[in-house]
Amino acid sequence: MGLELSSPVVASSSELTNKLDNLKKLEEAGAGAVVLRSLFEEEILAEMERTETAMQRPGPTFPEMAEMDDLIDPESGVADYLELVRGAKKELGIPVIASINGMSAQKWTYFASKLEEQGADALELNIFLQPSDFQAASAAEYEKIYFDIINMVLDQVSIPVSVKVSFYFTLLAQTLQAISKTGIKGLVLFNRFFNPDYNVEDLKIVPTNVLSTPSDLATSLKWVAIMNGRVDCDLAASTGVHDGDGVIKQLLAGANAVQVASTLYRNGLGVVSELNDRLVAWMQEKEYETLDDFRGMLSQQSIGNPAAYDRVQFVKNFRSMK
Ligand SMILES: Cc1cc2nc3c(=O)[nH]c(=O)nc-3n(C[C@H](O)[C@H](O)[C@H](O)COP(=O)(O)O)c2cc1C
Repeated sequence: MGLELSSPVVASSSELTNKLDNLKKLEEAGAGAVVLRSLFEEEILAEMERTETAMQRPGPTFPEMAEMDDLIDPESGVADYLELVRGAKKELGIPVIASINGMSAQKWTYFASKLEEQGADALELNIFLQPSDFQAASAAEYEKIYFDIINMVLDQVSIPVSVKVSFYFTLLAQTLQAISKTGIKGLVLFNRFFNPDYNVEDLKIVPTNVLSTPSDLATSLKWVAIMNGRVDCDLAASTGVHDGDGVIKQLLAGANAVQVASTLYRNGLGVVSELNDRLVAWMQEKEYETLDDFRGMLSQQSIGNPAAYDRVQFVKNFRSMK
């Protein structure tokens, strides 16, 4: 993304990256960069509506939104977020990546420029349209919204933009490739979602597996390996990286950066130094001097058609179970 990182290990967006103290601890532990917790589109739109009412001018166009700046409620989540970006930039030496979670191509995209103004080094757009939408016209229409959002945000900022997505696409490989060609500088594979579980005693629906485990690594590992060399931007791996070996695997698959969240919750912010130490020790053992000496070594770049390869592996592995 054009950002120079002292380590490929990046603190993923979460509630932990919503506090300046934590951000400083992450830098001390050796994080290469931090992604701040996401500001939600709904929070931005609510604040915009409030300021529009204050201006007594409903539905302003983009240039008029500049007036919004003086009217942002200092007590609002939006104001807190701007303060977080400002504070992080003041206190940290590592790149600070702001984050917005959006799901519609609307005027909230203007707000990306506010984050750039506060000094954010980059912006991660977490775009997630729910695949459970029975009212959506078609997969193509649905997917178009991703591109509309990206184009609108790219119009607003000159800092690098990365896009964090889920794997719920009709034709994931081609969609990821097309997204990578929009002018974004990074793709984050993948987002993690809420999944329900059932309590069979009180018959209630409860959230499950909010935090990942190391076995959740497989999906992002596979897709980083498939997309390596087939995208026009950098790749960051997200989900299931809990230890140094997880970082090494994602780099072997072709990741430029490796994001971690759950392991910070499970093992503390200091775990970042353990991930870095393991990576360095492994590189010394294998006599690698730079990450580029082995990055992508186990990717699927040389496999002509990953779909055919997948099919063969699938049949082989299932038939080998006796
Ligand atoms: C408590 C919590 C809060 C999160 N908040 C955000 C968020 O605000 N924005 C975002 O893009 N991802 C958010 N995530 C997702 C993480 O950034 C990450 O993509 C996901 O947890 C998978 O990575 P992991 O296996 O290292 O946890 C959150 C995750 C957790 C556990």
